[in-house]
This record gives sequence, structure tokens and C-alpha cells, in this order.
Amino acid sequence: MPRTQANWPPKKLVFASDHAGFPLKKPLLDWAVENGYEVLDLGADDSQSVDYPDFADLLAKYLNENPDTTGVLVCGTGIGISIAANRHPHIRAALCHDVTTSRLCKEHNDANVLVLGSRTVGLETGLDCLRAFLGASFGGGRHEGRVAKLG
Ligand code: RB5
Repeated sequence: MPRTQANWPPKKLVFASDHAGFPLKKPLLDWAVENGYEVLDLGADDSQSVDYPDFADLLAKYLNENPDTTGVLVCGTGIGISIAANRHPHIRAALCHDVTTSRLCKEHNDANVLVLGSRTVGLETGLDCLRAFLGASFGGGRHEGRVAKLG
């Protein structure tokens, strides 16, 4: 995929979570639908225990085939699912806890996946993070070469 995402700001969002992330993913997804985004949910669909790497892998596969899409991943802390997602070379998944990191992960790092932890970030902060990420743009310039070195 190109280093700087085509079709940004994004229109298409793909979400995935494990069982622990489901309670935050659901309202984020509802917000995205209400705000006119084309949305796909790859699961999990409830709070029944599942393994977060499986959902990170599903989302990574989808983004590889649909590079004009932007990802949102949620697990309990966001840690496991971001580690799993970043094992895929076309993924730059940023685990964020606030508006500033959510904005800067796009401006500086050109992240193509926002990651949140449902046990560490409440609904209001989670929504603020999603809005900040979607509203930011990659800065280019000095950041281009650095992002290129990520592979
Ligand atoms: C699931 O209990 C939890 O370990 C998972 O959602 C995540 O927090 C792992 O990093």
C-alpha cells in the first residue's frame, strides 16, 4: 500500500475487536454510521471470550485487500491487538489514549489503524480519539522519510 493513504480523509472504516473490546467498539461503530462513514465490522460480535490476534489478522488481511479503508481495533488494553496488527508490514497501528496521540499518530506516523483499549479509555475519550484521528492529516515533509524507514 502507498505510504500515505489514498482517499484521506477516510470514508470507509473497518472495525474489529476481541470480547473485551466489544463494549467500546459498538458505540464507536454506531457513531461512525451516524456520521456517514461506510462501516464494516469484522467481529467479535459479543462478549464471549475470543483471541485478539485472530481479529487483528482479519483486519490486516482486509486492509491489504482494501487499502483505501482505515482500521479501528479495540481490545481490553489495546496492547495485544496492536502488537498483533503491527506484525503485518502494511499496518501502522497506533495505540492511543488521548486526543493528542490520536491526532499525532496520523500527522507524524501516518497510522492506518487506530487502536483503543476499552478497559483503559472510556466512551467519551474513545469517541474523542476517533474524531481526532479521522480529522487529522499526515504532515509529510520530514515525516516522510521516517515513516518510510518503518518498512
Ligand atoms: C482479554 O482478557 C485481554 O487480555 C485482551 O483484550 C487485551 O487486553 C490484551 O492485550
